[in-house]
Order: sequence, then structure tokens, then C-alpha cells
Amino acid sequence: MKIILPLIVAFCFIMIACNQSGNNQQLQAKVDSLQAKLNDTYKPGLGEFMMGIQEHHAKLWFAGINKNWKLADFEVHEIGETLDDVKKYCTDRPEIKSLGIIDPAVNTIKAAITKQDMDKFKMGFTELTNDCNSCHKDNQHGFNIITIPSSPPVTNQDFKPAK
Ligand code: HEC
Repeated sequence: MKIILPLIVAFCFIMIACNQSGNNQQLQAKVDSLQAKLNDTYKPGLGEFMMGIQEHHAKLWFAGINKNWKLADFEVHEIGETLDDVKKYCTDRPEIKSLGIIDPAVNTIKAAITKQDMDKFKMGFTELTNDCNSCHKDNQHGFNIITIPSSPPVTNQDFKPAK
């Protein structure tokens, strides 16, 4: 009898330990399958974010020259938000260390919008456009030439201030 009790206790410990390691294996398999799914999730690439920035850049110009300062403010912040997304999702792209190149121009534009100063807005926008191109040149994308747009990027939006 004396020997049976410790044997039962030892048996229970072995059962618990086996069960535990089974659980760990199941958990690990679950983690691995989730990791595989995560690796497969769609993430927009830098070029896709850039196309968004291109659209906001063009809308910003037409908002500004039409003195629709509220829209201009919205568009310049959309550029900022897209840049934040680039920093978050494009960490595999070494080029993004040059992103700060456009910060001074963005700040000039924001100040111009606050003051509703058209000359300053146009100056900031020209500076911004030059900075887009500088970064492209510095990163083997000098063939992507950004210009001040000559016509609105869309025809289904009124860039004049709301009445
Ligand atoms: C960090 C430097 C950098 C800055 C600043 C930058 N770009 Fe880019 N841009 C790139 C790189 C790198 C690519 C190539 C992305 C790729 O490999 O798909 C690119 C690509 C583009 C493209 C091509 C997208 C396509 O598929 O047609 C456009 C348009 C563009 N940028 C617009 C802009 C505009 C507008 C600005 C300024 C408001 C700007 N970029 C600022 C680095 C930059």
C-alpha cells in the first residue's frame, strides 16, 4: 500500500505533463498557422501609396488656387497620413529614410493655408513638388517626374469653396 500511493501520484504527474506538452504543440501549430496567414495578408506597396499621394498633391493644388482653404487643409493632412502609413507598412523599403525631405515644404503649405496666403501657398507647393522629384532622383526613380498639375485630377469634384 505504501508503494502504491507514490506510484499513483507519479502517474498523475506524468499524465499532466504529457497533456501539457500536447497542448503546447497544439498552440504552437495554431501560432504557426496564424503567422503564415499574417505573412499572406495584402499590404499596399510603396508605389500604391505614392499614387495616393499623387492624387492628394493634385487636389491640394486645385483646392489652394481656388482658395478652398478647408479642402487644402484636408488634402495636406491626407498627404501626412499617407506618409505615416508608408512609414508603418513599407519598413522593407530603405528609400523611406529620405521621406523627411518634404517636411519643410509641407509646413510652409500648412502655414500658408492658416494665413490664407496665396503667394506662400504657391511657393510651398512648388517646393513640395521639387522635393518629390529630389527624392525620386536620389532613389533611382528620377524617371518619375512630378509637375504642378495643369488640369484637375477628377471631373466629379468642385474645388471651389462651398457656398
Ligand atoms: C522617400 C522619397 C520619396 C518622396 C519624398 C516621394 N516619393 Fe514618390 N516615389 C518614391 C519611390 C521610391 C517610388 C517608387 C515606388 C515603387 O517602387 O513602386 C516612388 C514612386 C512614385 C510614383 C509612381 C507611382 C506609380 O506606380 O505610378 C508617383 C506618382 C510618386 N512617387 C509621387 C510622389 C509625389 C507626388 C511626391 C511628393 C508629394 C512623392 N512621390 C514623394 C520615393 C519618394
